[in-house]
Amino acid sequence: MSNISVIGAGYVGLVTATCFADLGHRVRLVEIDKDRVTCLKRGILPIVEEQLPELWQSNWEAGRLSVTSDYKQGLADCEFAFITVGTPSAGNGKAELKWVRSAARSIAEAANGPLIIVLKSTVPVGTADIVTRVIARHCRNGHNFPVVSNPEFLREGVAVYDFMHPDRVVVGAFDQRAADAVAELHEPLDSPIIKCDNRTAEISKYASNVFLATRLSFINEIALLCDEYGIDVVEVAEIVGMDPRFGTGYLSAGLGWGGSCLPKDVKGLIHMAKSRRVSVPLLRAVQQINQNQPHLAIEKLCKQVGSLEGKTIGILGLSFKPNSDDIREARSLLVISILKEHGCQIKAYDPLAMKNTAKLFPDVTYCTDAYEVAASSDALILVTEWDEFKELNMKKMASLMNCPVLIDGRNLYDAEEMAKAGFTYDSIGHHATGLKKLEGVLLGGA
Ligand SMILES: NC(=O)c1ccc[n+]([C@@H]2O[C@H](COP(=O)([O-])OP(=O)(O)OC[C@H]3O[C@@H](n4cnc5c(N)ncnc54)[C@H](O)[C@@H]3O)[C@@H](O)[C@H]2O)c1
Repeated sequence: MSNISVIGAGYVGLVTATCFADLGHRVRLVEIDKDRVTCLKRGILPIVEEQLPELWQSNWEAGRLSVTSDYKQGLADCEFAFITVGTPSAGNGKAELKWVRSAARSIAEAANGPLIIVLKSTVPVGTADIVTRVIARHCRNGHNFPVVSNPEFLREGVAVYDFMHPDRVVVGAFDQRAADAVAELHEPLDSPIIKCDNRTAEISKYASNVFLATRLSFINEIALLCDEYGIDVVEVAEIVGMDPRFGTGYLSAGLGWGGSCLPKDVKGLIHMAKSRRVSVPLLRAVQQINQNQPHLAIEKLCKQVGSLEGKTIGILGLSFKPNSDDIREARSLLVISILKEHGCQIKAYDPLAMKNTAKLFPDVTYCTDAYEVAASSDALILVTEWDEFKELNMKKMASLMNCPVLIDGRNLYDAEEMAKAGFTYDSIGHHATGLKKLEGVLLGGA
């Protein structure tokens, strides 16, 4: 078993640390946010993640997990230091590396023995070289710190499962011994381990995320055509996804992609291309389509209710995806901003993300459930497809509203059922198809 230090106690750091501890390693988390350290010591986790609280508690109690803001303590006797700090977009789209640089510097200054640095944060091509240089500049005791690029592919909401059951583990390094040691740590996970150089590992992470964004923007463009012809994009996506060359994932038309990763990684790759004077029209189109989706939904809303000035609009769902309280780059933020520009009153409900959203939009009325949002609203927009919204009594919802208009931004509902419930319903290319209409007629006739 190894001694592992994990730098940064965010989504990736907490999951990485807890899962490695659960695999039997002794793990120390190093976090500069002292409030976060205090909460973690009391067993309060700053993120919502399935399975994480139970795993955290059991490994904490077993003495395999600890947390500190002191690098010397955090690195003492460790063989690995995983860097999992944030790399958000700077204004120009470039990934901000100041936290990675500062973590590398702190490691170099505090380490008391040889150490393998593992870069888990999503970082632009060439960052492993930057980290190597920062370490060489600040290391006082002449130790050798090889840098391994080991990008993380977990999905928020199922992050523990993804860590424990990865599709692939990518280990990018020039130092063969360091690569072997990092690969060995991942062997119990029983997944393919791909060894490559640092740069291949770095760009592979961007390529993966940007490919997901591309699929979503692609199906959103197909949805525009489906809207025009009255075809159901959900059925089209099903047919397309049945081709084993494609698969079904990330083909859901809707308000577009958000979250802490896809938007920043698309911007980051575009920035990388620009810095090397490479033209990337596809990536720009992927981004442009996504920026347009919330505007498209508001146009649909205006078609149904006319001017939005002074109207009360209800929002169902705020988090960037279901089962998360994360609102980073959530579509809800754009929808709220556009509605505010139109002079609307806004009511909203989300099972987990209201507290985070209220920090940015204190003037929205936050409700205790979806029915309270519907009450006296002039229209509803479904932004996040939480399971509990599927279970709503939609007849009751419609009856509570001033004007029962529903814009389904995630194609969650059935158009005909919504009409039966009393709604004027619109969606992102989700229509009752000719065949379904025909089935309805035949069933009705029988
Ligand atoms: N969130 C995801 O689903 C996900 C998935 C895969 C990859 N990633 C990538 O992983 C990285 C981390 O993402 P995240 O969502 O966990 O970020 P986050 O913002 O949730 O967490 C980062 C943590 O690092 C701490 N930190 C910053 N500088 C530090 C330093 N010098 N020393 C110690 N702690 C420091 C911050 O206080 C924060 O708690 C990013 O590059 C992201 O793109 C994220």
